Amino acid sequence: MSNTPASKTFTLTDDDNGQSWQYPVLEGTAGPGVIDIRKLYADTGHFTFDPSFTATGSCKSRITYIDGEEGILMHRGYTIEDLAEKSNFMEVAYLLLYGDLPNQKQRSKFDHDITYHTMVHEQINYFFRGFRRDAHPMAIMCGIVAALSAFYHDSLDIWDPDQREISAHRLIAKIPTLAAMTLKYSLGQPFMYPRNDLSYSENFLYMCFGLPAEPYRINPVLANAMDKILILHADHEQNASTSTVRLAGSSQANPFACISAGIACLWGPAHGGANQEVLEMLDQIGTKDRIPEFIEKAKDKDDPFRLMGFGHRVYKNFDPRAGVLKKACDEVLNDLGINDPRLELAMELERIALEDEYFVERKLFPNVDFYSGIILKAMGFPTSMFTVLFAVARTVGWISQWKEMIEEPALRIGRPRQLYTGPAKRSYVPVEDRD
Ligand code: CMC
Repeated sequence: MSNTPASKTFTLTDDDNGQSWQYPVLEGTAGPGVIDIRKLYADTGHFTFDPSFTATGSCKSRITYIDGEEGILMHRGYTIEDLAEKSNFMEVAYLLLYGDLPNQKQRSKFDHDITYHTMVHEQINYFFRGFRRDAHPMAIMCGIVAALSAFYHDSLDIWDPDQREISAHRLIAKIPTLAAMTLKYSLGQPFMYPRNDLSYSENFLYMCFGLPAEPYRINPVLANAMDKILILHADHEQNASTSTVRLAGSSQANPFACISAGIACLWGPAHGGANQEVLEMLDQIGTKDRIPEFIEKAKDKDDPFRLMGFGHRVYKNFDPRAGVLKKACDEVLNDLGINDPRLELAMELERIALEDEYFVERKLFPNVDFYSGIILKAMGFPTSMFTVLFAVARTVGWISQWKEMIEEPALRIGRPRQLYTGPAKRSYVPVEDRD
């Protein structure tokens, strides 16, 4: 890893013998500096202890910046609000992958490169048949994306920049096709081949909701909302699934396997699975008069219930993505003429929670998942597909972060250490002598 010049140092002193060591503080473009402790173990014989990584920078990255206190999210220096309003998903994908917004020529080439890879190997159709029809779509996604490495042998050499690029394009291009196939499979409907005359988001909606028996009319409001949803979920710095992708990639595993690992991590309800849980929670609450009961449950430490869609490890302010999504949600519901009582319920829940001392004190604000479920439901997606949509968008972030890591001059396998609290050394006792 190349070194960022240190602006100052931190001194660590052993209180027992007075010995001290100095560690450089590396400064990034924004955000807190980091104390470079790579020599700490060699110097002191100690590890640091930071389970769940609340104070650990695991890498250098030029892709995404979050200021959780201020509620700021930027990709390559552009705010998420700016990108969501003025850009589109293909441009954002290019930005994340290559570092700058594309000019017109680069944009057309990128569109072409992604479009060129939207179809999947025909044999993958048969692969689907091995899954039960009622399998959770995320279970299918984990398996089918990992299986891509069995189909595209020609782009698995991670040390070849061209192969890395082709794999990245393949993943970005094929993930919506696979996601749509997962939906179709669960519905018992035929798979729809991609249409390369449509935009990324239009094509995705077409593959999800089109039928061979009749023409599919693109609703521009829905296509625009889908594009926004994809932009908002595209990357989020070193979150759990991205760190999973990086850790898997650090062993030099192929990118398809790494993205599959990311999908598995995203599935959990504390991460990408929360959007599904929000909707289920709103259904469980049912009516506004029951909100206080559920607020009390969320505050009760003996009750495992949490207010889903609330709180974030990094944001201690409004998640900037939630505001954009709420607006898109209004547009979609208005266009479709849907009067979903869940939206009103969500708004009331948000109002009550934001006035409650428990949530205020802990700086628990609505996150991106709070409104995404309502909008996705209105668009016609079953609840079980919500996290899959998150995975479609996040694939761009994962593969950009993976590429950045592989391109670091000195890639080393990730290997956290631990505080061992198990038994000390003991002798083996033959089974007949055990109590
Ligand atoms: N409802 C009730 N209490 C909460 C909630 C919640 N949703 N979130 C955090 N708390 C409390 C928590 O009990 C703790 O209280 P105390 O200090 O009294 O023990 C305090 O707030 C700090 O919480 P934490 O668990 O230490 O925070 P964390 O950073 O480990 O967890 C989180 C972050 C997102 C997992 C958590 O806020 C949560 O479970 N939220 C609900 C699930 C959710 O919406 N997840 C989507 C995250 S955004 C999408 C993504 O990026 O994947």
